[in-house]
Amino acid sequence: MSSRIVITGAGGLVGRVLAGQARQQGRDVLALTSAECDITDPSASERFISSDDVVVNCAAYTKVDAAEADPDRAAAVNTVGAEYVAHACARAGASLIHLSTDYVFSGAFHDGEPRPYDIDDDVGPLSVYGRTKLAGEFAVLSAMPTAYIVRTAWIYEGRDDGSDFAAGIRRAAAGTDTVDVVADQIGSPTYVVDLAEALLQIAGGEISEAVLHAANGGACSRYEQAQAIFEEVGADPARVKPVGSDRHPRPAPRPPYSALSEVKSAAAGLTPLRPWRDAVAAAMEAAGPLPSTP
Ligand SMILES: NC(=O)c1ccc[n+]([C@@H]2O[C@H](COP(=O)([O-])OP(=O)(O)OC[C@H]3O[C@@H](n4cnc5c(N)ncnc54)[C@H](OP(=O)(O)O)[C@@H]3O)[C@@H](O)[C@H]2O)c1
Repeated sequence: MSSRIVITGAGGLVGRVLAGQARQQGRDVLALTSAECDITDPSASERFISSDDVVVNCAAYTKVDAAEADPDRAAAVNTVGAEYVAHACARAGASLIHLSTDYVFSGAFHDGEPRPYDIDDDVGPLSVYGRTKLAGEFAVLSAMPTAYIVRTAWIYEGRDDGSDFAAGIRRAAAGTDTVDVVADQIGSPTYVVDLAEALLQIAGGEISEAVLHAANGGACSRYEQAQAIFEEVGADPARVKPVGSDRHPRPAPRPPYSALSEVKSAAAGLTPLRPWRDAVAAAMEAAGPLPSTP
């Protein structure tokens, strides 16, 4: 019998989709929202975790810009809260998969041309969010060396009622205006359904590396991702206009390049996620017809 999947942060994008896919696979799932299990409470998660569970910690302070003004709250969730979950798993004899981010990298390469980041490349977060997530990686592994850290990136689903990047671009595609999208941030857009599938594979416990990258294959800019979404929904991609990130200054700096390499994760046994462009097509098909314009 497969282990129960316990999801913290289950009200978020990854937690919600993961819970649905795990149930579809016939898994026993305990999906805990922040109201049910606040991971900043040192004893909250251990009330729910039993031996043989696989805990997937999807709980995080993910407001990248707001974190700049609230570093204590970001650290409380992303670092200390993650550590509490790891201690609870270690004490209970459960397994743990903890999610992390491409924002642990800086995008600055000392050795020439950018190339997708490997799991053991130098980290160098630029933002409070990235720093608190990186500290969370260390805290989790020090509390529980057998935990998996899964770095992922630019997660989207694209549903009409969603707040992710693809959902916003899709709504823009349904209109008639042009849309400005930054062309100088390159990364690995990742369809949440593909990420959830990878997490369920990792939950099987057969992967031989502690730190993994799980992102759709290849790399593109936000501008190229937006154009792909327009193409998939039958809108004119010429309505997407490339701009520099200096046109939309934001409180938290983003790495100019943060694509994640799947090579070492694949060598450790993780099935590579499909190429990002194929995933955009699948996501837009799953999202259904465009909403009608107001
Ligand atoms: N989204 C991305 O593009 C992206 C990229 C790279 C990595 N990641 C990582 O992937 C993971 C999942 O992210 P996501 O996209 O699903 O984010 P999300 O939609 O913002 O979900 C995060 C969830 O964490 C919950 N949460 C916040 N504080 C909590 C606390 N103290 N205790 C328990 N739950 C708490 C939130 O609940 P409330 O809403 O009630 O606060 C929310 O349901 C995170 O580790 C994130 O850092 C995300």
